Amino acid sequence: MSQEFDVLVIGAGPGGYIAAIRAAQLGFKVACAEGNAYDDPKGEPRLGGTCLNVGCIPSKALLASSEEYENVGHHLGSHGISVKELSLDVTKMVGRKNDIVTKMTGGVAYLFKKNKITLLKGYASFKAKEGDRYQVEITGKDAGLVSAKQVIIATGSKARHLPGIKVDNKLICDNEGGLQFDAVPKNLGVIGAGVIGLELGSVWRRLGSDVTILEAMPSFLGACDTGVANEAKKLFTKQGLKFNLGVKIESVVAGKNNVKISYADDQGNAQSLVVDRLIVSVGRVPNTENLNLEAIGLKTDERGFIPVDDHTCATAAAGVYAIGDVIRGPMLAHKAEDEGVLVAEVMAGQKPHIDYNCIPWVIYTSPEIAWVGKTEQQLKAEGRAYKPGQFPFAANGRALGMGASDGFVKILADATTDEILGVHIIASAASDLIAEAVVAMEFKAAAEDIARVCHPHPSLSEVMREAALAATDNRALNF
Ligand code: FAD
Ligand code: NAI
Repeated sequence: MSQEFDVLVIGAGPGGYIAAIRAAQLGFKVACAEGNAYDDPKGEPRLGGTCLNVGCIPSKALLASSEEYENVGHHLGSHGISVKELSLDVTKMVGRKNDIVTKMTGGVAYLFKKNKITLLKGYASFKAKEGDRYQVEITGKDAGLVSAKQVIIATGSKARHLPGIKVDNKLICDNEGGLQFDAVPKNLGVIGAGVIGLELGSVWRRLGSDVTILEAMPSFLGACDTGVANEAKKLFTKQGLKFNLGVKIESVVAGKNNVKISYADDQGNAQSLVVDRLIVSVGRVPNTENLNLEAIGLKTDERGFIPVDDHTCATAAAGVYAIGDVIRGPMLAHKAEDEGVLVAEVMAGQKPHIDYNCIPWVIYTSPEIAWVGKTEQQLKAEGRAYKPGQFPFAANGRALGMGASDGFVKILADATTDEILGVHIIASAASDLIAEAVVAMEFKAAAEDIARVCHPHPSLSEVMREAALAATDNRALNF
């Protein structure tokens, strides 16, 4: 006889664990299966998925530590502060990061107990549908059969690896190894100038690596507003990141202590690069291969994603939903979380809604890059008439005081109605500043609305208001 639940969540990443909590709050009897122990010393499954274990949280911890190191070493002179004999203990820095991860994953375990969610330690795969219940097999510490009326697939994603390039997470790494170096590599190669390449490239550059990033696309940060991408490339290059765009990787050969990358440059000329370590960050692929989806009549699309309904995340199998990285849309933790809440509420008969146009993106470089809504190039392609308003942090007193005067806010508003269509920020604290823009867009605000709201002085948020003023009849006050 199998254990019976109302709702089984497969995967305890930000999508799955939030879905489990919300479903429990709504009165369902909930179980959540998680098999990945990552590097847990006791082999116990660790909750929190990619995000808490090998993604958002550890990368931001190392970004914070490396930023402190760089500031102390290079950026305090103008404050009249100098430090002699600056030293670096990478083991301690990585240990701090690991402690934060342990605290966060333990926090999810606590939340499961608090919400009376049964944790099933092991990997789940579908066996069959019997009557109105799905039979699911758990392989691992809690091996056995469970059944549930409704199932949420939240199995997330893993790093995409390139054919012929063997990731050992020692010399050639994906995100997992790239967060775990035991020393600062003298030379670091990165394949892929996307989000991970820029964030982890920044971490190791700040700590002293000579970082070269090889990118297949001829343009830089194609998903970003072009103005922001151009500014970012200029600033990151000045910081010392080396970019080779439009390359074609030919081969990657690991030696005893180094890695040789052979590639064709943007002119088609043969080039090579020898580095102490290589990070391969060329996107991620959904985790669907071990779910035995066929047993319940489900198929993935050609890229391995589970097709779902645009509004409810329902799959083609009644009562089975999928959320987060395993379905369409951006691979972002907050998107996975929002879908987790949405699905639990749909199961409870509520009518929740996600506006995918209002999901913010952040790249945690220095300065940070954040945006929500449409880019200028998207609006042009759609033929939509818009008014841009841009304001630089160099004209903001707080930014000058903080030594954070790089970057700007750009607001794009409808030329006729003044509705905000997109907001693009490159700045220190862009990750926090963008929240105002997200709220404004969710409320269908006009640029004039932000322009008329009192913002605290002195604060970086005043730049948002000035950009809104600039978008409404070029009324910026301080520029
Ligand atoms: P995941 O977090 O991948 O969790 C899925 C879980 O399911 C995993 O624990 C896995 O072990 C488990 N699982 C898989 N198959 C099974 C099975 N059959 N049975 C049981 N369990 C299973 N996003 C942001 O928004 N902000 C950031 O700053 C950010 N930084 C990132 C940095 C890095 C280096 C990386 C790699 C990613 C980052 N992301 C960030 C992306 C973010 O981590 C993902 O979008 C998010 O984790 C997706 O959540 P999820 O719940 O869909 O899947
Ligand atoms: P990405 O999609 O952001 O970037 C991958 C880059 O690799 C692209 O620029 C692509 O053109 C390039 N590329 C692909 N194949 C290549 C090849 N053969 N040779 C050279 N370049 C190649 O993927 P990334 O950086 O791996 O991150 C995966 C995802 O994780 C992100 O898309 C994002 O969803 C999530 N993430 C989010 C973060 C955040 O929110 N701050 C931080 C890190 C990851």
